[in-house]
Amino acid sequence: MAEILRVEHLKKNFSVPGDRGKKRSFSAVNDVSFSVERGGCFGLVGESGSGKTTTGRTVLRLTEPTAGRIFFDGTDITDADMRPYRRKMQIIFQNPAGSLDPKYQVGDVVSEGMRANGLYGSRAERLRRAADLLRQVGLSEDDLRRYPGEFSGGQQQRIGIARALAVDPSFIVCDEPVSALDVSLQAQIINLLKALQQERGLSYLFISHDMAVVRHMADRIGVLFRGCLVECGETMEVLSHPAHPYTRALIAAIPAADPDRAAAKIHALRPAAPAEAGEGCAYAARCPYAKEVCRLERPVEREIGPDHSCCCHLFS
Ligand SMILES: Nc1ncnc2c1ncn2[C@@H]1O[C@H](COP(=O)(O)OP(=O)(O)OP(=O)(O)O)[C@@H](O)[C@H]1O
Ligand SMILES: [Mg+2]
Repeated sequence: MAEILRVEHLKKNFSVPGDRGKKRSFSAVNDVSFSVERGGCFGLVGESGSGKTTTGRTVLRLTEPTAGRIFFDGTDITDADMRPYRRKMQIIFQNPAGSLDPKYQVGDVVSEGMRANGLYGSRAERLRRAADLLRQVGLSEDDLRRYPGEFSGGQQQRIGIARALAVDPSFIVCDEPVSALDVSLQAQIINLLKALQQERGLSYLFISHDMAVVRHMADRIGVLFRGCLVECGETMEVLSHPAHPYTRALIAAIPAADPDRAAAKIHALRPAAPAEAGEGCAYAARCPYAKEVCRLERPVEREIGPDHSCCCHLFS
């Protein structure tokens, strides 16, 4: 089977404070469908608040979906008991410092998942295995007995990667794994993730607000705007023939003259206006090509090429 993960019509609503103390429902992820190939990397790109983390967490059932279905390795896990799947589906977080418990030695941080999953007989064996993992991510056995706070941001992210690998997953959600790092360190961690992917045949859902980072990492990408997947397809195809006006704006923001800076900071684009509950296209208020229909009707996803789809009235 070619797919390791498939998401169909995923929705996630949050209850947020509304008028006069009442609650209202806010749609963070709105009818999102995509798949991750086995051994592949699907990049999910979009500006802050577009629903990337919510999508990643919902896929892992760390957040429960409001609607839609999630298939992992051919099994519908939407309502499943996740215990058998937790080990196979891991996550690497944006903020390595905040995601590592400062009270525990690195050896215990890395091997905790092995213990919880009953892997390897003894603590000594788990620590031996943790030492191997630390070497694989570019740290050393001596680091087992140090504490997370004694490491730099890049080293902490390596520890986070070792921890995710410790339970031998097949699929990892990488949620902005390099956003908190200096640009020079970003490339090192990206290359490490790529090498590990190849060595271990891992599949990634790689989340980033940075189109330049996603371009390096992902073989397929999906572009999220306010909870809607506006364009999806093979990376080179989408980047060379972007269809959706939002995708085009993101690509235009990649600094071509200075590719090493990898700084297509989507955040630098116009800030998102507060989400309004409209019927039309989520992007209409910002779109330079918006027509009457864009404000009135939600566009549907259309195939515009082999492994390339777009959700825009301009292509309907
Ligand atoms: N637990 C929650 N309760 C209410 N609203 C939430 C909750 N979690 C996320 N949201 C809202 O859902 C939207 C999407 O958030 P999410 O964290 O998924 O965005 P993101 O694309 O990961 O952004 P960033 O690039 O800043 O990490 C935001 O408007 C956010 O405020
Ligand atoms: Mg996020």
